[in-house]
Amino acid sequence: MGDGAERLDLILMGPPGAGKGTQSAMLTERLRVPCISTGHIFREEVRRKSPLGLEAKRHMDKGELVPDDVIMRILEERLQQPDCAPGFILDGVPRTMPQAEWLDRALAALGRHLDLVVRLVVPDEELIKRLSGRRTCRECGAMYHIIFDPPTNEGICNRCNGDLYQRDDDHEDIIASRLEVYARETAPIFQYYRARDLLAEVDGTGSRDDILARIVERVERVEQHA
Ligand code: AP5
Ligand code: MG
Repeated sequence: MGDGAERLDLILMGPPGAGKGTQSAMLTERLRVPCISTGHIFREEVRRKSPLGLEAKRHMDKGELVPDDVIMRILEERLQQPDCAPGFILDGVPRTMPQAEWLDRALAALGRHLDLVVRLVVPDEELIKRLSGRRTCRECGAMYHIIFDPPTNEGICNRCNGDLYQRDDDHEDIIASRLEVYARETAPIFQYYRARDLLAEVDGTGSRDDILARIVERVERVEQHA
């Protein structure tokens, strides 16, 4: 893998509701590398009412992207943490061409490079169903779905007993804006990775375990060619 070392630098991409968070939580255990989710980082900052959280919230609540320079600042620091030495899974980054180009430069400066970009492909109707029924734990960030994956006790997280809430950006009008922003700003990045033969398009429908198996199969192919 990356640079001959046993390292896996992986990006998980896909539209809102594609299952990036769900799959990266499973993959992080399986591959033993940390997952970095900018969305999750922002929600934590919002919860703490930090200046970064307040700035991010202004954009997130409208379904818009947080400015590139904010993302770069966060990642610059996060990628250098010791837990990223064996690799990482990026969930929700990059989302714009400038972020993608910046990430390549930042990794090169650290003497590493991307191994694989997984694109989860899910039809829009399914995304809307998934997002409108999602519930998220306020304490640990675990995700549920009121129909597809309900908690044992309504409104309470199975893992930590935290309160489950509906994300502010999971209301229907905001979901529509997020899908538009994704199509306009993020989808063009696929061509950038496809041209470098880094892109794996994976069917993101069906059971979580089946989707995980599809992703792991693509990761193993990369490992075999390392
Ligand atoms: P972020 O938190 O990353 O949101 P997103 O990309 O819109 O994606 P989601 O988290 O909504 O969906 P997901 O793909 O993780 O799906 P999940 O696994 O939860 O970003 C939020 C905001 O932060 C952005 O809008 C932006 O403002 C800002 N931001 C973040 N990163 C940024 C960046 N790099 N640049 C600029 N701004 C940035 O699954 C969804 C639901 O489906 C769940 O309920 C789940 O239980 C269910 N589900 C999952 N898998 C299945 C399955 N196989 N079958 C049935 N249901 C399933
Ligand atoms: Mg997510």
